[in-house]
Amino acid sequence: MNAIVLESPGQVQMKTVRDEDGSRSAGVLLRVRMVGLCGSDLNSYRGRNPLVSYPRIPGHEVAATVVETNSMFPQWTAGMDVTMSPYSNCGKCAACLRNRANACQANQTLGVQRDGALTEFIRVPAERLFKADLTIKELCLVEPLTVGFHAAARARITASDTVAVLGCGGVGLGAVAGAAFRGAKVIGVDVEDAKLATARKAGAAHTINTARQELHAELAELTDGHGPDVVIEAIGAPQTYRAAVEEVAYAGRVIYIGWAKEHVEYETRPFVHKELDILGSRNAQREDFYEVIRMLEARRFPVEEAVTHVVPMAETPAILEAWNREPARFTKIMVEVS
Ligand SMILES: NC(=O)c1ccc[n+]([C@@H]2O[C@H](COP(=O)([O-])OP(=O)(O)OC[C@H]3O[C@@H](n4cnc5c(N)ncnc54)[C@H](O)[C@@H]3O)[C@@H](O)[C@H]2O)c1
Ligand SMILES: [Zn+2]
Ligand SMILES: [Zn+2]
Repeated sequence: MNAIVLESPGQVQMKTVRDEDGSRSAGVLLRVRMVGLCGSDLNSYRGRNPLVSYPRIPGHEVAATVVETNSMFPQWTAGMDVTMSPYSNCGKCAACLRNRANACQANQTLGVQRDGALTEFIRVPAERLFKADLTIKELCLVEPLTVGFHAAARARITASDTVAVLGCGGVGLGAVAGAAFRGAKVIGVDVEDAKLATARKAGAAHTINTARQELHAELAELTDGHGPDVVIEAIGAPQTYRAAVEEVAYAGRVIYIGWAKEHVEYETRPFVHKELDILGSRNAQREDFYEVIRMLEARRFPVEEAVTHVVPMAETPAILEAWNREPARFTKIMVEVS
């Protein structure tokens, strides 16, 4: 069967790999239909993802169709369209023992620490599958949105909250949609108008472009001078890491999703003075998948705006090269596999 293989940083090709021949007990055989690419795939292509080893088949945002009904997993019948959680968990570490498998110390994500879904067929453990009344493109969007939904869950967001989301890229957009789906008043913050326009369609009531507007003054005006109840950081830059703590209201919650790309220095007194809840948020749990599916089934997300490119599988190497050269031109790329 065909697969997209990252041979080494910058070297990617479509080639024939061994057919999926895993034991039937290892899971449900799926025909891959569509795979989304995100920033972590670009980093793998660039050799800047420390968790990836090469050669590696990428792909962790997946829509697929069940190939055959397997008597061991009778609820997954031939022809059913599904999406999946790309994570694994060990069941033994402290996070797993607390039912927080999304933060498993030994997690192996599809396409990162093990081969992913940019191939014609894959076999996936039944407990990682989700079915939904969604199109193939929507199924493919579930996983990237779960990361932001998990952050909204970590923040315990309710309809009485005002939530600022710093960064409305692929991950931040999920946080905007997740907070809005919980009924909160959402303020999207970015430096690009196109990202903010999509954030509005995903549920942001207000947006702030910090390339030309002053974050503190705008937030103060929108919150009667209190600051937002919740700030979700979805960028990973030192200045926005600090801004989250500086701008959040007294007794507020700060959620970090962005992976800080460099060392961050803080004035720590606000942690205590404001009595903040400061939480990290990583990957997502099963409940987050169910909630994203409910939101997409309610047609509450601008799917067409959020997906900027759909390409056939053979064009994956070319689009990765183009994305690498001009990252600003791309938001969400989806690869049509079959
Ligand atoms: N915690 C997790 O489980 C998890 C999962 C995936 C990604 N991430 C991290 O989340 C972060 C966002 O990922 P992404 O895929 O959405 O990236 P992205 O590049 O698509 O989005 C980042 C957005 O931030 C905006 N931005 C950049 N600098 C800004 C600034 N100073 N002020 C305001 N806006 C700014 C950009 O215009 C862009 O829209 C990254 O750090 C990534 O590593 C975390
Ligand atoms: Zn992703
Ligand atoms: Zn574990």
